[in-house]
Amino acid sequence: MSADKMETTAGVSNGAGPVYDETEDTLSPEDLSEMLAAGTKEIHEKAENTQFVKDFLRGRIRKELFKLGAVALYHTYTAMEEEIERNKDHPHFAPLYFPAELHRHEALARDLQYFYGPEWQSKATCSQATQCYVDRIHQVGQEDPVLLVAHAYTRYMGDLSGGQVLKKVAQRAMKLPPTGEGLEFYQFDAIHSAKAFKQLYRSRMNELDLDMETKKRLVDEAVKAFLFNMEVFEELEEIGKTIQEDVLDAGMPVHGAMGGDIS
Ligand code: HEM
Repeated sequence: MSADKMETTAGVSNGAGPVYDETEDTLSPEDLSEMLAAGTKEIHEKAENTQFVKDFLRGRIRKELFKLGAVALYHTYTAMEEEIERNKDHPHFAPLYFPAELHRHEALARDLQYFYGPEWQSKATCSQATQCYVDRIHQVGQEDPVLLVAHAYTRYMGDLSGGQVLKKVAQRAMKLPPTGEGLEFYQFDAIHSAKAFKQLYRSRMNELDLDMETKKRLVDEAVKAFLFNMEVFEELEEIGKTIQEDVLDAGMPVHGAMGGDIS
């Protein structure tokens, strides 16, 4: 894990550099970023190994299923960003409030419009597994807002880590236009360096004034957030068995997709 304490001046554009070495040894296992990374390591591996995710990485993506995945993400981010807006001044969330850089609601709405046309809203119904995830996000946002940090961490840090690879795989497998229509979710236009931004985000998490008990609750909640995501993948996998096979086996070789750092 690289240094987390470094706050970049521009926040979103300062790339890598010698700063990593300078701050490496200032990290502590009690820093929230470290606790979250360590505490979700095992469940992260499990999430990577769900059939839906493995198929996706191989480029075995059924377009209908990909569209349903985008619908699930739309409902998830709508809920999360609604709760983030509600809590944007809360001292336990305010330092992590980056709407221009991170928020995905509008990008997902454009993706769904591309896939489903002008009537997309009536077609984008929320699935059962997604509804459970959404309900938890609303509950947290309204009753225990500090836990929102765990939900934001799980989604945004994950998106910034794997987004570009997933975008390329999907673009190629479904022959989507190179101009990015349908894949705006994966495109963070206001973030020039995902690596630098993740570092900023980690340092902001570490600066939150939280006691150890709360940090542990955050790790538990992040594990829950992973589980909600896995439930959605499993649901998609089941739906996939019932819809017509139109698999486009045009993905990258798995080693190509996974070679090196996915970010
Ligand atoms: C980080 C790969 C699925 C959440 C990362 C990183 C890699 C990676 C290589 C490290 C990036 C870095 O150190 O800068 C993958 C692969 C996946 C996958 C190959 C399967 C296709 C997921 C899923 C989630 C997720 C399903 C949750 C919904 C995260 C989070 C981080 C992360 C929160 C940040 C970890 C930290 O630094 O604290 N992922 N990931 N990932 N991923 Fe994933």
